Amino acid sequence: MSYEFVEHEYDVVVVGAGGAGLRATFGMAQKGLSTACLTKVFPTRSHTVAAQGGISAALGNMGEDQWQWHMYDTVKGSDWLGDQDAIEYMCREAIPAIIELEHYGVPFSRTDEGKIYQRPFGGMSKNFGEGGQAERTCAAADRTGHAILHTLYTQALRHQAEFFIEFFAIDLIMDEEGVCRGVIALEMSTGKLHRFRGHETVLATGGFGRAYFSCTSAHTCTGDGGGMVLRAGLPLQDMEFTQFHPTGIYGAGCLITEGARGEGGYLTNSDGERFMERYAPNAKDLASRDVVSRSMTMEINEGRGVGSESDHINLHLHHLGADVLDEKLPGISESAKIFAGVDVTKEPIPVIPTVHYNMGGIPTNVYGEVVTIKDGNPDAVVPGLMAIGEAACVSVHGANRLGSNSLLDLVVFGRAAAIRAAEIVKPGTSHKTMPESASELALDRLDRVRNANGNCATAEIRLEMQKAMQKHCAVFRTGDSMNEGVKKIDAISGKLDDLKTTDRSLIWNTDLMESLELENLMAQAQVSITSAAARPESRGAHARDDMPDRDDKDWMKHTASWLSEKGEVTLDYRPVHAYTLTDEMEYIKPKKRVY
Ligand code: FUM
Repeated sequence: MSYEFVEHEYDVVVVGAGGAGLRATFGMAQKGLSTACLTKVFPTRSHTVAAQGGISAALGNMGEDQWQWHMYDTVKGSDWLGDQDAIEYMCREAIPAIIELEHYGVPFSRTDEGKIYQRPFGGMSKNFGEGGQAERTCAAADRTGHAILHTLYTQALRHQAEFFIEFFAIDLIMDEEGVCRGVIALEMSTGKLHRFRGHETVLATGGFGRAYFSCTSAHTCTGDGGGMVLRAGLPLQDMEFTQFHPTGIYGAGCLITEGARGEGGYLTNSDGERFMERYAPNAKDLASRDVVSRSMTMEINEGRGVGSESDHINLHLHHLGADVLDEKLPGISESAKIFAGVDVTKEPIPVIPTVHYNMGGIPTNVYGEVVTIKDGNPDAVVPGLMAIGEAACVSVHGANRLGSNSLLDLVVFGRAAAIRAAEIVKPGTSHKTMPESASELALDRLDRVRNANGNCATAEIRLEMQKAMQKHCAVFRTGDSMNEGVKKIDAISGKLDDLKTTDRSLIWNTDLMESLELENLMAQAQVSITSAAARPESRGAHARDDMPDRDDKDWMKHTASWLSEKGEVTLDYRPVHAYTLTDEMEYIKPKKRVY
Protein backbone atom coordinates (compact mmCIF):
# COMPACT_ATOMS: atom_id res chain seq x y z
CA MET A 1 0.00 0.00 0.00
CA SER A 2 1.32 3.41 -0.84
CA TYR A 3 -0.69 6.56 -0.28
CA GLU A 4 0.49 10.15 -0.47
CA PHE A 5 -0.88 13.05 1.47
CA VAL A 6 -1.75 16.59 0.52
CA GLU A 7 -0.58 18.42 3.67
CA HIS A 8 -2.47 21.24 5.44
CA GLU A 9 -1.74 23.20 8.60
CA TYR A 10 -4.37 25.31 10.38
CA ASP A 11 -4.85 26.66 13.87
CA VAL A 12 -8.10 24.72 14.12
CA VAL A 13 -9.85 22.07 12.05
CA VAL A 14 -13.61 21.54 12.24
CA VAL A 15 -15.12 18.31 10.91
CA GLY A 16 -18.76 18.77 9.94
CA ALA A 17 -20.71 21.76 8.61
CA GLY A 18 -24.12 21.45 10.28
CA GLY A 19 -25.34 24.06 12.75
CA ALA A 20 -22.69 23.31 15.39
CA GLY A 21 -19.81 22.97 12.92
CA LEU A 22 -20.65 26.21 11.13
CA ARG A 23 -21.16 28.17 14.36
CA ALA A 24 -17.78 26.98 15.62
CA THR A 25 -16.11 27.53 12.22
CA PHE A 26 -17.05 31.16 11.80
CA GLY A 27 -16.61 31.88 15.52
CA MET A 28 -13.03 30.64 15.32
CA ALA A 29 -12.32 32.45 12.04
CA GLN A 30 -13.82 35.63 13.53
CA LYS A 31 -11.35 35.39 16.41
CA GLY A 32 -8.40 35.34 14.04
CA LEU A 33 -7.70 31.60 14.02
CA SER A 34 -6.95 30.03 10.65
CA THR A 35 -9.87 27.62 10.35
CA ALA A 36 -10.55 24.71 8.03
CA CYS A 37 -13.99 23.11 7.88
CA LEU A 38 -14.21 19.65 6.30
CA THR A 39 -17.57 18.27 5.33
CA LYS A 40 -18.74 15.17 3.50
CA VAL A 41 -21.78 17.01 2.07
CA PHE A 42 -22.22 20.56 0.85
CA PRO A 43 -22.68 22.66 4.05
CA THR A 44 -26.28 23.66 3.40
CA ARG A 45 -27.21 20.00 2.85
CA SER A 46 -26.12 19.05 6.39
CA HIS A 47 -28.84 17.41 8.48
CA THR A 48 -29.54 20.61 10.46
CA VAL A 49 -31.37 21.74 7.33
CA ALA A 50 -34.12 19.25 8.22
CA ALA A 51 -34.82 20.69 11.69
CA GLN A 52 -38.35 21.98 11.63
CA GLY A 53 -40.15 23.25 14.73
CA GLY A 54 -37.69 25.67 16.27
CA ILE A 55 -35.06 26.67 18.78
CA SER A 56 -35.81 27.27 22.45
CA ALA A 57 -34.99 30.39 24.47
CA ALA A 58 -36.84 32.11 27.28
CA LEU A 59 -37.30 35.38 25.35
CA GLY A 60 -40.76 35.90 26.82
CA ASN A 61 -42.14 37.31 23.56
CA MET A 62 -45.47 35.50 23.88
CA GLY A 63 -45.93 35.60 27.66
CA GLU A 64 -43.78 35.68 30.77
CA ASP A 65 -40.69 33.48 30.74
CA GLN A 66 -37.34 33.02 32.52
CA TRP A 67 -34.21 31.06 31.66
CA GLN A 68 -34.43 29.45 35.12
CA TRP A 69 -37.81 27.91 34.14
CA HIS A 70 -36.24 26.67 30.92
CA MET A 71 -33.44 25.13 32.98
CA TYR A 72 -35.92 23.43 35.31
CA ASP A 73 -37.78 21.91 32.33
CA THR A 74 -34.55 20.70 30.73
CA VAL A 75 -33.34 19.04 33.95
CA LYS A 76 -36.75 17.38 34.44
CA GLY A 77 -36.87 16.40 30.75
CA SER A 78 -33.42 14.80 31.11
CA ASP A 79 -34.83 12.65 33.94
CA TRP A 80 -32.05 14.03 36.13
CA LEU A 81 -29.24 12.60 34.03
CA GLY A 82 -28.28 15.99 32.56
CA ASP A 83 -25.33 17.90 34.05
CA GLN A 84 -26.86 20.92 35.75
CA ASP A 85 -23.85 23.20 35.25
CA ALA A 86 -24.07 22.62 31.49
CA ILE A 87 -27.85 23.00 31.43
CA GLU A 88 -27.58 26.30 33.27
CA TYR A 89 -25.01 27.50 30.73
CA MET A 90 -27.19 26.50 27.77
CA CYS A 91 -30.46 27.98 29.05
CA ARG A 92 -28.88 31.25 30.14
CA GLU A 93 -26.89 31.65 26.90
CA ALA A 94 -29.99 30.81 24.83
CA ILE A 95 -31.28 34.36 25.01
CA PRO A 96 -28.21 36.19 23.63
CA ALA A 97 -27.67 33.30 21.17
CA ILE A 98 -31.08 33.89 19.57
CA ILE A 99 -30.64 37.65 19.43
CA GLU A 100 -27.27 37.03 17.79
CA LEU A 101 -28.91 34.73 15.20
CA GLU A 102 -31.52 37.40 14.52
CA HIS A 103 -28.78 39.95 13.93
CA TYR A 104 -26.95 37.54 11.63
CA GLY A 105 -30.09 37.45 9.52
CA VAL A 106 -32.15 34.38 10.45
CA PRO A 107 -35.64 35.09 9.03
CA PHE A 108 -37.68 34.17 12.11
CA SER A 109 -41.49 34.26 11.91
CA ARG A 110 -42.91 37.34 13.64
CA THR A 111 -45.68 38.28 16.04
CA ASP A 112 -48.02 41.14 15.12
CA GLU A 113 -45.72 43.42 17.12
CA GLY A 114 -42.74 42.31 15.05
CA LYS A 115 -41.12 40.18 17.76
CA ILE A 116 -39.71 36.69 17.14
CA TYR A 117 -42.63 34.24 17.07
CA GLN A 118 -42.47 31.50 19.75
CA ARG A 119 -44.61 28.35 19.81
CA PRO A 120 -45.39 25.82 22.54
CA PHE A 121 -43.25 22.65 22.54
CA GLY A 122 -43.31 19.49 24.63
CA GLY A 123 -42.11 19.64 28.22
CA MET A 124 -41.68 23.45 28.20
CA SER A 125 -43.49 25.02 31.16
CA LYS A 126 -43.74 28.23 33.17
CA ASN A 127 -42.89 28.75 36.81
CA PHE A 128 -40.98 25.53 37.46
CA GLY A 129 -43.74 23.30 36.10
CA GLU A 130 -46.53 25.03 38.01
CA GLY A 131 -47.62 27.72 35.52
CA GLY A 132 -48.87 25.72 32.52
CA GLN A 133 -47.46 25.54 29.00
CA ALA A 134 -44.69 27.97 27.96
CA GLU A 135 -44.35 29.43 24.45
CA ARG A 136 -40.57 29.27 24.20
CA THR A 137 -39.66 27.79 20.84
CA CYS A 138 -38.55 30.41 18.31
CA ALA A 139 -39.60 29.43 14.82
CA ALA A 140 -39.11 30.26 11.18
CA ALA A 141 -42.42 28.61 10.13
CA ASP A 142 -41.55 24.88 10.20
CA ARG A 143 -38.22 25.33 8.42
CA THR A 144 -36.18 26.74 11.29
CA GLY A 145 -33.11 24.54 10.73
CA HIS A 146 -33.05 25.51 7.07
CA ALA A 147 -33.14 29.21 7.95
CA ILE A 148 -30.42 28.90 10.60
CA LEU A 149 -28.09 26.71 8.54
CA HIS A 150 -28.13 29.00 5.52
CA THR A 151 -27.50 32.05 7.71
CA LEU A 152 -24.59 30.40 9.52
CA TYR A 153 -23.01 29.35 6.22
CA THR A 154 -23.10 32.92 4.91
CA GLN A 155 -21.48 34.08 8.16
CA ALA A 156 -18.72 31.49 7.77
CA LEU A 157 -18.06 32.66 4.20
CA ARG A 158 -18.06 36.27 5.40
CA HIS A 159 -15.32 35.48 7.93
CA GLN A 160 -13.13 33.73 5.36
CA ALA A 161 -13.20 30.27 6.89
CA GLU A 162 -11.83 27.72 4.40
CA PHE A 163 -14.17 24.94 3.34
CA PHE A 164 -13.15 21.50 2.13
CA ILE A 165 -16.38 20.19 0.68
CA GLU A 166 -17.07 16.50 0.01
CA PHE A 167 -14.09 15.49 2.12
CA PHE A 168 -14.70 12.32 4.13
CA ALA A 169 -12.87 12.17 7.50
CA ILE A 170 -11.34 8.73 8.04
CA ASP A 171 -9.58 8.91 11.40
CA LEU A 172 -8.03 11.23 13.95
CA ILE A 173 -4.29 11.75 14.17
CA MET A 174 -3.41 10.96 17.79
CA ASP A 175 0.17 11.19 19.09
CA GLU A 176 1.84 8.91 21.63
CA GLU A 177 0.89 11.21 24.49
CA GLY A 178 -2.80 10.98 23.65
CA VAL A 179 -2.95 14.46 22.10
CA CYS A 180 -5.08 14.93 19.00
CA ARG A 181 -3.04 16.52 16.20
CA GLY A 182 -5.58 16.61 13.39
CA VAL A 183 -7.46 14.38 11.02
CA ILE A 184 -6.97 12.40 7.81
CA ALA A 185 -9.59 12.83 5.09
CA LEU A 186 -10.36 11.52 1.62
CA GLU A 187 -11.30 14.04 -1.06
CA MET A 188 -14.16 12.21 -2.65
CA SER A 189 -14.04 13.83 -6.09
CA THR A 190 -10.31 13.23 -6.75
CA GLY A 191 -9.47 10.27 -4.48
CA LYS A 192 -6.61 12.29 -2.94
CA LEU A 193 -5.77 11.85 0.73
CA HIS A 194 -5.37 14.96 2.86
CA ARG A 195 -3.63 15.34 6.22
CA PHE A 196 -5.02 18.25 8.23
CA ARG A 197 -2.98 19.42 11.22
CA GLY A 198 -4.74 21.55 13.81
CA HIS A 199 -4.06 22.59 17.41
CA GLU A 200 -7.69 21.80 18.04
CA THR A 201 -9.77 19.34 16.03
CA VAL A 202 -13.50 19.86 16.50
CA LEU A 203 -15.86 16.97 15.79
CA ALA A 204 -19.25 18.27 14.70
CA THR A 205 -20.28 15.19 12.78
CA GLY A 206 -23.87 14.71 14.02
CA GLY A 207 -25.65 11.64 15.31
CA PHE A 208 -25.80 7.99 14.30
CA GLY A 209 -29.55 7.62 13.68
CA ARG A 210 -28.86 5.41 10.67
CA ALA A 211 -27.88 2.57 13.01
CA TYR A 212 -31.67 2.06 13.15
CA PHE A 213 -34.07 0.80 10.48
CA SER A 214 -36.56 3.66 10.76
CA CYS A 215 -35.35 7.14 11.64
CA THR A 216 -35.89 10.79 10.81
CA SER A 217 -32.14 11.24 10.26
CA ALA A 218 -30.59 11.82 6.85
CA HIS A 219 -28.66 8.94 5.26
CA THR A 220 -25.52 10.91 6.11
CA CYS A 221 -26.11 10.56 9.88
CA THR A 222 -23.61 7.78 10.39
CA GLY A 223 -21.85 8.98 13.54
CA ASP A 224 -18.46 9.41 11.88
CA GLY A 225 -17.02 11.40 14.80
CA GLY A 226 -18.14 8.82 17.37
CA GLY A 227 -16.54 6.07 15.28
CA MET A 228 -13.24 7.97 15.13
CA VAL A 229 -13.29 8.58 18.87
CA LEU A 230 -13.86 4.89 19.67
CA ARG A 231 -11.03 3.85 17.33
CA ALA A 232 -8.78 6.38 19.08
CA GLY A 233 -9.33 4.43 22.31
CA LEU A 234 -11.59 7.07 23.89
CA PRO A 235 -15.05 6.52 25.37
CA LEU A 236 -18.51 7.57 24.31
CA GLN A 237 -21.13 8.50 26.90
CA ASP A 238 -24.78 7.58 27.63
CA MET A 239 -25.17 5.69 24.39
CA GLU A 240 -28.19 3.75 25.67
CA PHE A 241 -30.38 6.86 25.38
CA THR A 242 -31.93 7.09 21.91
CA GLN A 243 -34.86 9.42 21.35
CA PHE A 244 -37.93 8.27 19.46
CA HIS A 245 -39.83 11.27 18.04
CA PRO A 246 -43.57 10.58 18.42
CA THR A 247 -44.48 11.70 14.93
CA GLY A 248 -42.47 10.16 12.13
CA ILE A 249 -44.62 9.51 9.04
CA TYR A 250 -45.73 5.86 9.14
CA GLY A 251 -43.73 3.84 6.61
CA ALA A 252 -41.50 6.70 5.43
CA GLY A 253 -39.91 7.89 8.70
CA CYS A 254 -39.94 11.59 7.70
CA LEU A 255 -40.37 14.03 10.56
CA ILE A 256 -43.65 15.76 11.29
CA THR A 257 -42.62 18.51 13.67
CA GLU A 258 -43.69 18.60 17.30
CA GLY A 259 -44.64 22.17 16.34
CA ALA A 260 -47.71 20.56 14.73
CA ARG A 261 -48.92 19.62 18.22
CA GLY A 262 -47.58 22.95 19.50
CA GLU A 263 -49.99 24.70 17.13
CA GLY A 264 -52.90 22.58 18.40
CA GLY A 265 -52.63 19.24 16.57
CA TYR A 266 -53.60 16.12 18.51
CA LEU A 267 -53.23 12.33 18.42
CA THR A 268 -56.03 9.77 18.34
CA ASN A 269 -56.28 5.98 18.50
CA SER A 270 -58.61 3.62 16.60
CA ASP A 271 -61.51 4.60 18.91
CA GLY A 272 -60.99 8.22 17.88
CA GLU A 273 -59.93 8.88 21.49
CA ARG A 274 -57.45 11.65 22.40
CA PHE A 275 -55.58 9.14 24.51
CA MET A 276 -52.81 11.49 25.73
CA GLU A 277 -55.37 12.93 28.16
CA ARG A 278 -55.13 9.63 30.06
CA TYR A 279 -51.33 9.42 30.12
CA ALA A 280 -50.44 13.08 30.74
CA PRO A 281 -53.54 14.88 32.07
CA ASN A 282 -51.85 18.30 32.21
CA ALA A 283 -49.51 18.49 29.24
CA LYS A 284 -51.52 15.99 27.10
CA ASP A 285 -50.11 15.91 23.53
CA LEU A 286 -47.28 18.21 24.63
CA ALA A 287 -45.80 15.94 27.27
CA SER A 288 -42.12 15.23 26.67
CA ARG A 289 -41.21 13.00 23.74
CA ASP A 290 -40.34 9.85 25.66
CA VAL A 291 -43.72 10.01 27.42
CA VAL A 292 -45.72 10.56 24.20
CA SER A 293 -43.80 7.85 22.30
CA ARG A 294 -44.39 5.33 25.07
CA SER A 295 -48.09 6.21 25.27
CA MET A 296 -48.51 5.73 21.52
CA THR A 297 -46.67 2.42 21.68
CA MET A 298 -48.92 1.23 24.53
CA GLU A 299 -52.04 2.14 22.52
CA ILE A 300 -50.74 0.15 19.56
CA ASN A 301 -49.66 -2.80 21.73
CA GLU A 302 -53.08 -2.90 23.37
CA GLY A 303 -54.83 -3.15 20.00
CA ARG A 304 -55.90 0.47 19.60
CA GLY A 305 -53.61 1.37 16.70
CA VAL A 306 -55.13 2.63 13.43
CA GLY A 307 -54.82 1.31 9.86
CA SER A 308 -55.36 -2.15 8.41
CA GLU A 309 -52.64 -3.57 10.67
CA SER A 310 -53.59 -1.46 13.73
CA ASP A 311 -49.95 -0.44 13.93
CA HIS A 312 -49.88 3.35 13.96
CA ILE A 313 -51.65 6.47 15.28
CA ASN A 314 -53.47 9.43 13.70
CA LEU A 315 -52.26 13.02 14.00
CA HIS A 316 -55.02 15.57 13.33
CA LEU A 317 -54.36 19.06 12.01
CA HIS A 318 -57.40 19.78 9.80
CA HIS A 319 -59.16 21.78 12.56
CA LEU A 320 -56.33 24.36 12.47
CA GLY A 321 -57.60 25.57 9.10
CA ALA A 322 -55.82 26.04 5.79
CA ASP A 323 -54.56 29.55 6.60
CA VAL A 324 -52.77 28.53 9.81
CA LEU A 325 -51.38 25.40 8.16
CA ASP A 326 -50.13 27.44 5.24
CA GLU A 327 -48.49 30.10 7.39
CA LYS A 328 -47.08 28.04 10.25
CA LEU A 329 -46.73 24.48 8.99
CA PRO A 330 -46.16 24.64 5.23
CA GLY A 331 -43.24 22.21 5.20
CA ILE A 332 -44.96 19.34 6.97
CA SER A 333 -48.15 19.92 4.95
CA GLU A 334 -46.03 19.23 1.88
CA SER A 335 -44.23 16.24 3.46
CA ALA A 336 -47.57 14.69 4.46
CA LYS A 337 -48.81 15.04 0.87
CA ILE A 338 -45.66 13.59 -0.70
CA PHE A 339 -44.86 10.82 1.78
CA ALA A 340 -48.30 9.81 3.11
CA GLY A 341 -50.59 11.02 0.30
CA VAL A 342 -52.54 13.03 2.87
CA ASP A 343 -54.18 16.46 2.52
CA VAL A 344 -53.69 17.80 6.04
CA THR A 345 -56.62 20.20 5.70
CA LYS A 346 -58.93 17.19 5.44
CA GLU A 347 -57.27 13.99 6.72
CA PRO A 348 -55.12 12.88 9.67
CA ILE A 349 -51.45 12.02 9.13
CA PRO A 350 -50.50 8.40 9.94
CA VAL A 351 -47.61 8.58 12.42
CA ILE A 352 -45.44 6.30 14.53
CA PRO A 353 -42.59 6.87 17.04
CA THR A 354 -39.40 7.02 14.96
CA VAL A 355 -35.73 7.25 15.98
CA HIS A 356 -34.81 10.93 15.95
CA TYR A 357 -31.87 11.83 18.18
CA ASN A 358 -28.95 10.41 20.12
CA MET A 359 -28.69 11.86 23.59
CA GLY A 360 -25.36 10.05 23.98
CA GLY A 361 -22.14 10.92 22.21
CA ILE A 362 -18.59 12.13 22.74
CA PRO A 363 -18.30 13.37 26.36
CA THR A 364 -17.30 17.02 26.72
CA ASN A 365 -17.21 19.81 29.25
CA VAL A 366 -19.14 23.09 28.76
CA TYR A 367 -16.28 24.49 26.66
CA GLY A 368 -16.61 21.74 24.08
CA GLU A 369 -13.39 20.00 25.17
CA VAL A 370 -13.55 16.21 24.97
CA VAL A 371 -13.15 14.51 28.35
CA THR A 372 -12.36 10.98 29.45
CA ILE A 373 -11.91 9.06 32.68
CA LYS A 374 -8.20 8.97 33.46
CA ASP A 375 -6.27 8.17 36.65
CA GLY A 376 -9.43 8.50 38.70
CA ASN A 377 -10.35 11.88 37.16
CA PRO A 378 -13.78 11.60 35.47
CA ASP A 379 -13.36 14.97 33.72
CA ALA A 380 -9.84 14.61 32.26
CA VAL A 381 -9.52 16.78 29.12
CA VAL A 382 -8.21 15.11 25.94
CA PRO A 383 -5.80 17.76 24.61
CA GLY A 384 -6.43 18.98 21.07
CA LEU A 385 -9.88 17.43 20.71
CA MET A 386 -13.30 19.06 20.90
CA ALA A 387 -16.82 17.85 20.08
CA ILE A 388 -20.08 19.76 19.66
CA GLY A 389 -23.66 19.26 18.54
CA GLU A 390 -25.38 15.88 18.34
CA ALA A 391 -21.99 14.16 18.06
CA ALA A 392 -21.23 15.36 21.59
CA CYS A 393 -22.69 14.61 25.00
CA VAL A 394 -22.15 17.74 27.15
CA SER A 395 -24.53 16.50 28.80
CA VAL A 396 -27.47 18.88 28.51
CA HIS A 397 -30.08 16.35 27.41
CA GLY A 398 -29.36 13.53 29.83
CA ALA A 399 -31.76 10.64 29.31
CA ASN A 400 -34.28 12.53 27.17
CA ARG A 401 -33.98 15.73 25.12
CA LEU A 402 -36.74 18.33 24.99
CA GLY A 403 -37.78 19.31 21.48
CA SER A 404 -36.10 22.54 20.26
CA ASN A 405 -33.20 22.16 22.70
CA SER A 406 -31.10 20.60 19.93
CA LEU A 407 -30.79 23.63 17.64
CA LEU A 408 -30.02 25.55 20.81
CA ASP A 409 -27.29 23.10 21.84
CA LEU A 410 -25.70 23.50 18.37
CA VAL A 411 -25.37 27.26 18.45
CA VAL A 412 -24.58 27.67 22.16
CA PHE A 413 -21.84 25.04 22.28
CA GLY A 414 -20.55 25.83 18.76
CA ARG A 415 -19.99 29.34 20.07
CA ALA A 416 -18.53 28.06 23.38
CA ALA A 417 -16.00 25.94 21.46
CA ALA A 418 -14.94 28.98 19.41
CA ILE A 419 -14.44 31.03 22.57
CA ARG A 420 -12.41 28.24 24.19
CA ALA A 421 -10.26 27.62 21.11
CA ALA A 422 -9.40 31.33 20.98
CA GLU A 423 -8.30 31.15 24.63
CA ILE A 424 -5.98 28.20 24.20
CA VAL A 425 -4.65 28.50 20.64
CA LYS A 426 -2.38 31.38 19.65
CA PRO A 427 -2.92 32.15 15.95
CA GLY A 428 -0.07 30.94 13.76
CA THR A 429 1.57 28.66 16.37
CA SER A 430 3.78 26.16 14.54
CA HIS A 431 2.93 22.48 14.56
CA LYS A 432 5.16 19.91 16.25
CA THR A 433 6.78 17.29 14.06
CA MET A 434 4.90 14.05 14.20
CA PRO A 435 5.92 10.48 13.42
CA GLU A 436 4.40 9.02 10.23
CA SER A 437 3.02 6.23 12.44
CA ALA A 438 0.42 8.69 13.80
CA SER A 439 -1.35 8.48 10.44
CA GLU A 440 -1.27 4.68 10.22
CA LEU A 441 -4.64 4.10 11.87
CA ALA A 442 -6.38 5.97 9.06
CA LEU A 443 -4.30 4.49 6.25
CA ASP A 444 -4.65 0.90 7.44
CA ARG A 445 -8.39 1.34 7.77
CA LEU A 446 -8.81 2.87 4.34
CA ASP A 447 -6.70 0.20 2.69
CA ARG A 448 -8.39 -2.70 4.51
CA VAL A 449 -11.92 -1.56 3.67
CA ARG A 450 -11.06 -0.58 0.11
CA ASN A 451 -9.63 -4.05 -0.62
CA ALA A 452 -12.10 -6.09 1.46
CA ASN A 453 -12.79 -9.23 -0.53
CA GLY A 454 -15.06 -11.33 1.66
CA ASN A 455 -18.61 -12.55 1.13
CA CYS A 456 -20.88 -10.03 2.87
CA ALA A 457 -22.11 -6.93 1.08
CA THR A 458 -22.19 -3.63 2.98
CA ALA A 459 -25.93 -3.15 2.41
CA GLU A 460 -26.77 -6.63 3.78
CA ILE A 461 -24.75 -6.17 6.98
CA ARG A 462 -26.19 -2.69 7.45
CA LEU A 463 -29.78 -3.88 7.12
CA GLU A 464 -29.22 -6.69 9.64
CA MET A 465 -27.73 -4.22 12.11
CA GLN A 466 -30.57 -1.73 11.61
CA LYS A 467 -33.26 -4.36 12.15
CA ALA A 468 -31.56 -5.73 15.26
CA MET A 469 -31.25 -2.25 16.78
CA GLN A 470 -34.86 -1.41 15.93
CA LYS A 471 -36.05 -4.58 17.65
CA HIS A 472 -33.76 -4.83 20.67
CA CYS A 473 -33.02 -1.19 21.54
CA ALA A 474 -36.60 0.02 21.12
CA VAL A 475 -39.09 2.38 22.82
CA PHE A 476 -39.70 -0.36 25.42
CA ARG A 477 -36.91 -2.71 26.41
CA THR A 478 -36.42 -5.76 28.62
CA GLY A 479 -33.25 -7.35 29.95
CA ASP A 480 -33.85 -10.52 27.90
CA SER A 481 -34.44 -8.63 24.68
CA MET A 482 -31.42 -6.38 25.13
CA ASN A 483 -29.13 -9.29 26.03
CA GLU A 484 -30.30 -11.11 22.91
CA GLY A 485 -29.64 -7.88 20.99
CA VAL A 486 -26.08 -7.65 22.34
CA LYS A 487 -25.37 -11.16 21.01
CA LYS A 488 -26.96 -10.39 17.66
CA ILE A 489 -25.11 -7.12 17.16
CA ASP A 490 -21.81 -8.77 18.15
CA ALA A 491 -22.42 -11.50 15.57
CA ILE A 492 -23.43 -9.00 12.86
CA SER A 493 -20.39 -6.89 13.68
CA GLY A 494 -18.24 -10.01 13.18
CA LYS A 495 -19.41 -10.04 9.56
CA LEU A 496 -17.36 -6.90 8.93
CA ASP A 497 -14.34 -9.26 8.93
CA ASP A 498 -15.94 -10.91 5.90
CA LEU A 499 -16.92 -7.65 4.16
CA LYS A 500 -16.91 -7.35 0.39
CA THR A 501 -16.38 -4.02 -1.31
CA THR A 502 -16.64 -4.28 -5.07
CA ASP A 503 -15.16 -0.98 -6.22
CA ARG A 504 -11.39 -0.65 -5.66
CA SER A 505 -11.02 2.88 -7.01
CA LEU A 506 -10.71 6.01 -4.86
CA ILE A 507 -12.65 8.50 -6.97
CA TRP A 508 -16.32 8.87 -6.05
CA ASN A 509 -16.27 5.40 -4.56
CA THR A 510 -19.61 5.35 -2.75
CA ASP A 511 -19.18 1.65 -2.01
CA LEU A 512 -16.04 2.46 -0.02
CA MET A 513 -17.67 5.45 1.68
CA GLU A 514 -20.72 3.46 2.75
CA SER A 515 -18.49 0.71 4.11
CA LEU A 516 -16.47 3.20 6.16
CA GLU A 517 -19.74 4.70 7.41
CA LEU A 518 -21.03 1.24 8.28
CA GLU A 519 -17.99 0.63 10.50
CA ASN A 520 -18.81 3.86 12.35
CA LEU A 521 -22.45 2.88 12.76
CA MET A 522 -21.65 -0.64 13.88
CA ALA A 523 -19.19 0.52 16.56
CA GLN A 524 -21.89 2.79 17.98
CA ALA A 525 -24.60 0.13 17.74
CA GLN A 526 -22.35 -2.17 19.82
CA VAL A 527 -21.66 0.31 22.60
CA SER A 528 -25.30 1.50 22.60
CA ILE A 529 -26.90 -1.87 23.10
CA THR A 530 -24.25 -3.02 25.57
CA SER A 531 -24.67 0.16 27.63
CA ALA A 532 -28.46 -0.32 27.52
CA ALA A 533 -28.32 -3.93 28.67
CA ALA A 534 -26.14 -2.89 31.61
CA ARG A 535 -28.55 -0.24 32.97
CA PRO A 536 -31.04 -1.91 35.36
CA GLU A 537 -33.58 0.91 35.66
CA SER A 538 -35.94 3.05 33.57
CA ARG A 539 -34.87 6.64 32.96
CA GLY A 540 -35.97 8.96 30.14
CA ALA A 541 -35.78 7.21 26.79
CA HIS A 542 -34.40 4.03 28.39
CA ALA A 543 -37.73 2.46 29.40
CA ARG A 544 -37.57 -1.12 30.67
CA ASP A 545 -40.76 -3.15 30.97
CA ASP A 546 -39.08 -5.39 33.51
CA MET A 547 -37.60 -2.54 35.61
CA PRO A 548 -40.04 0.36 35.37
CA ASP A 549 -38.59 2.54 38.17
CA ARG A 550 -35.78 5.07 38.17
CA ASP A 551 -33.00 4.20 40.58
CA ASP A 552 -31.35 7.46 41.63
CA LYS A 553 -29.37 5.84 44.42
CA ASP A 554 -27.28 3.59 42.19
CA TRP A 555 -27.88 4.77 38.61
CA MET A 556 -27.91 8.53 38.50
CA LYS A 557 -24.61 8.36 36.64
CA HIS A 558 -23.31 8.60 33.08
CA THR A 559 -22.26 5.46 31.25
CA ALA A 560 -18.83 5.63 29.57
CA SER A 561 -18.24 2.96 26.91
CA TRP A 562 -15.06 1.91 25.11
CA LEU A 563 -14.69 -0.50 22.20
CA SER A 564 -11.49 -2.51 21.81
CA GLU A 565 -9.92 -3.34 18.45
CA LYS A 566 -11.24 -6.88 18.93
CA GLY A 567 -14.77 -5.51 19.31
CA GLU A 568 -15.11 -5.93 23.08
CA VAL A 569 -17.09 -3.27 24.95
CA THR A 570 -15.89 -2.00 28.34
CA LEU A 571 -18.11 0.14 30.57
CA ASP A 572 -17.37 2.55 33.39
CA TYR A 573 -19.39 5.37 34.96
CA ARG A 574 -18.96 9.12 35.55
CA PRO A 575 -20.91 11.09 38.15
CA VAL A 576 -23.68 13.42 36.98
CA HIS A 577 -22.74 17.05 37.74
CA ALA A 578 -25.14 17.65 40.61
CA TYR A 579 -24.23 21.34 40.92
CA THR A 580 -24.93 24.55 39.07
CA LEU A 581 -22.47 26.91 37.44
CA THR A 582 -23.42 30.03 39.41
CA ASP A 583 -25.49 30.86 42.46
CA GLU A 584 -28.22 32.39 40.27
CA MET A 585 -29.81 28.98 40.26
CA GLU A 586 -29.90 26.24 42.88
CA TYR A 587 -29.38 22.56 42.19
CA ILE A 588 -32.74 21.10 41.12
CA LYS A 589 -33.40 18.10 43.32
CA PRO A 590 -34.69 14.90 41.73
CA LYS A 591 -38.39 14.12 41.99
CA LYS A 592 -40.96 11.99 40.21
CA ARG A 593 -41.39 13.08 36.63
CA VAL A 594 -45.05 13.66 35.75
CA TYR A 595 -46.60 15.79 33.02
O1 FUM B 1 -40.29 18.26 16.09
C1 FUM B 1 -39.38 18.98 15.71
O2 FUM B 1 -39.56 20.01 15.06
C2 FUM B 1 -38.02 18.62 16.10
C3 FUM B 1 -37.35 19.42 16.88
C4 FUM B 1 -36.23 18.91 17.66
O3 FUM B 1 -35.91 17.73 17.56
O4 FUM B 1 -35.65 19.67 18.42
